[in-house]
Amino acid sequence: MKNKFNDLTGKEWLPFQKSFTHFTTFGDLYQENISFFTKASIDPIPVALFWGSSSKEILFQTLCDKQNILYNEGECDFIYIDLTDETLTLETLQQMNSWINMKVCQITEFSKRLNHRKFISVLINNIIIDQYYYPISWEISNRLSQHFTRKDEKIICRKKNQEPFINLYFRKDEDSALNTAISSSDLWDSMRELTTFSSIRSHQNWFILKPKPRKKDEILHPAKYPEDLVSLYLNTFSKKDDNVFDPMSGTGTTQVESLKLGRNAYGVELSSIFHSIAENRCAQVSSKEHIWNIFHGDARNWEKGNFPIFDYIITSPPYWDMLNMQGAENQALRKKKGLQTNYSNDSNDLGNIDNYASFLKDLIVLYISILGNLKDGGYFTIVVKNIKKKGKIYPFAFDLVSGLNSRLILEHVAYWCQDDLRLAPYGFGNTWVSNTFHHYCLTFRKEI
Ligand SMILES: C[S@@+](CC[C@H](N)C(=O)[O-])C[C@H]1O[C@@H](n2cnc3c(N)ncnc32)[C@H](O)[C@@H]1O
Repeated sequence: MKNKFNDLTGKEWLPFQKSFTHFTTFGDLYQENISFFTKASIDPIPVALFWGSSSKEILFQTLCDKQNILYNEGECDFIYIDLTDETLTLETLQQMNSWINMKVCQITEFSKRLNHRKFISVLINNIIIDQYYYPISWEISNRLSQHFTRKDEKIICRKKNQEPFINLYFRKDEDSALNTAISSSDLWDSMRELTTFSSIRSHQNWFILKPKPRKKDEILHPAKYPEDLVSLYLNTFSKKDDNVFDPMSGTGTTQVESLKLGRNAYGVELSSIFHSIAENRCAQVSSKEHIWNIFHGDARNWEKGNFPIFDYIITSPPYWDMLNMQGAENQALRKKKGLQTNYSNDSNDLGNIDNYASFLKDLIVLYISILGNLKDGGYFTIVVKNIKKKGKIYPFAFDLVSGLNSRLILEHVAYWCQDDLRLAPYGFGNTWVSNTFHHYCLTFRKEI
């Protein structure tokens, strides 16, 4: 197959594939991007373009010169936009709204010089103004996706307590003009209400876990989250003797960790196989002091579980119907081992809804109904990923926030970055598709 993407070798390709990276310097970050999206040996020599502060532009240009890449000459093959200095100057909501409108116009104008099927990358960070958390990177991502094809995002992990940078990637291609944002346009308006309190800010905003090898029964489940993730959240968002709930319990990770940390543990699970694994695991760690109860059935019937009021909810839903997508390397590997690749074939399994809008709606309706049983001021953490399917990005995390925002306040956003997965060379030689190794951990609070 002809290598249509920069003629990169596997060795040059692979290091860029992870959807998160650690920030060292702006120079390193620019260098990584220039090396991946341009190559001097290509004929004609690629042209790169930068937009940001003048000192950073000099740095970027020097890096292009070092790699024998042309800078700012006519039509270009890669554009890098660094907005991180500009976000620092935003002090009021009004300023921020007009800044976003202006940036979207400027970027689309600026990108008229970008050649067909070439990438544009935007570096940005979410901000806090007067204790309000504004995920402006999501808004810029949604708005630019109306003009370009949204291809990817990378989390740039900075020092502890520093808000990570997000590197957004778009491509100008045959689909670009056709794109309409999949996520709702009301995201931005609703974001005005987001509050962040200083105590919660101290909770980590990105983390890497080293999960223990999964036991024989736990491997049966295709997408279990790690015990350490649950304990990290239980320690911040709940206290001893609290009632913790997970409407989609899987193998019971939420309940097992809750019991271990002295909480009562409740949940629902649809699959009889996972339900019995969860019950067995709870039975092994339970004590007389704390109660547990996992209802076997559809989460939409959670009321049949006769649960007490919940103090804290932590959960992870099916990531749409992605487990039904055949061909993924992980799926093939599980099949080979005789393990099931999806949760179930049950029509009530939300992971079997093939229409994205219906899936999203059903999930949001379920979460809103559960809220009725969450105490006022209680927290609700959802672990999700933005989804890539057939070359298209579905911003599941952003869409969930939009859908829940009228009922809950988004208090905290963290990225769980997985560093223990094998990299796959998706799109090699054709186009860039990262290995999505980051999940959004979204924590909401029920208003009093
Ligand atoms: C991402 S997994 C949760 C994994 C779990 N956190 C763990 O660590 O094992 C999602 C779970 O939702 C369950 N599920 C899907 N649709 C459901 C429904 N309508 N009601 C209850 N559970 C459902 C699936 O069987 C699956 O176990």
